[in-house]
Amino acid sequence: MKVHTYEKAFLWAGAVVLIAFMGALLYASAAMGINLPGAEERVDPATVTSMPPFDQPGVRQVGEGRYEVVLIGRAWQFTPAEIRVPAGSEVTIIATSTDVIHGIHVEGTRINMMLVPGQIARNTYTFQEPGEHLLVCHEFCGAGHHFMFGRVIVE
Ligand code: CUA
Repeated sequence: MKVHTYEKAFLWAGAVVLIAFMGALLYASAAMGINLPGAEERVDPATVTSMPPFDQPGVRQVGEGRYEVVLIGRAWQFTPAEIRVPAGSEVTIIATSTDVIHGIHVEGTRINMMLVPGQIARNTYTFQEPGEHLLVCHEFCGAGHHFMFGRVIVE
């Protein structure tokens, strides 16, 4: 069978790209420790609100200028709906959903998380400037989706 030279070249280019991506995936997983949520991050969405840390959602200080926010998304609200931290704080959001898939986007920041029932999501961000950020659910989660929002107030 005669394969055209250009076609051959594109086939090879495709193969090289696939191998490069596979290599990048293996490198990210083995050398950088970037993985999909493992078993230790899995929870039962039906009982998650009765176990730590989700039995006490809210903002707490965990060190000098460091805060932890334990946040629950459920149709159609965030608990807590208001997060207050001082400017310059490093804030780690630990979040989950108890029902359907929700999302968190904090306006003006790179915080963009998926809240999947049964999984714990984590994200750390430093709020440098004082101000107010809208926190919205960015996954369509039903009739009240557009009512699902909160605020991050940086003081
Ligand atoms: Cu929750 Cu959309």
